Amino acid sequence: MDRKLLYEGKAKRIYSIPDKPGMYIQEFKDDATAFNGLKKEQIKNKGVLNASISTTIFRYLMQHGIPTHFVEKLSDTEMLVKKVKIVQVEVVCRNIAAGSLVKRYGFKEGTVMKQPIVEYYFKSDELGDPLFTEEHVFALELATADEMNLIKELTLKINGLLLKFFSERKLKLVDFKLEFGRDDGGNIILADEISPDTCRLWDSETNKKLDKDRFRFDLGGVEEAYEEINKRLS
Ligand code: TMP
Ligand code: ASP
Repeated sequence: MDRKLLYEGKAKRIYSIPDKPGMYIQEFKDDATAFNGLKKEQIKNKGVLNASISTTIFRYLMQHGIPTHFVEKLSDTEMLVKKVKIVQVEVVCRNIAAGSLVKRYGFKEGTVMKQPIVEYYFKSDELGDPLFTEEHVFALELATADEMNLIKELTLKINGLLLKFFSERKLKLVDFKLEFGRDDGGNIILADEISPDTCRLWDSETNKKLDKDRFRFDLGGVEEAYEEINKRLS
């Protein structure tokens, strides 16, 4: 398929397709970064594994009524997606304390939240993705109140669906990050990826970390963890 590189992010490339103006190609790279790009390495096979994992999850969510950008898998590392304009708000949903919830608020890692915590981060590499509130979103004109209500509602619905999906595969969904976009009709749909780069997943029995924290904190066995997730999902 003829294509033009539109955007290269830390873990993915987005291409436009001259023959299909309403579509993009999303390609998953082996590159991994953490701490806003401070730590940078390649994880062997990550592109292939995340494309596979993300495809499985997006198909599942769509079967359960979540609107997403996913169209079809094109190759080992590529998917065809609907063209969207990304809303510059990263939505994090947390079920169990880990990561910045521990650092910022003093929860003990592993503490189960009585109800999910939804947080918003300003998607801005220059500013280091700061935590912010809906009022900042409105002041910066990143999304309307109706859009933010829908984004929160979709996030909580996705959380419910994913908690069930992962628990059936003996995994605890600790937390995850979502990105939404506007399609050509201005509708809010789920975009980006859902993978061990963007979720924390622990083995249900042993609490072994099977996600990007193995890379962030040099725990070893990074590729093996991603392979284990892919295996449990297929
Ligand atoms: P945090 O605890 O470091 O704030 O991360 C919360 C969740 O968001 C975790 O599942 C990892 C994911 N995440 C991203 O996908 N991208 C990011 O840039 C960050 C900081 C976290
Ligand atoms: N992806 C982010 C970065 O490169 C942070 C992370 O996932 O920890 O900085």
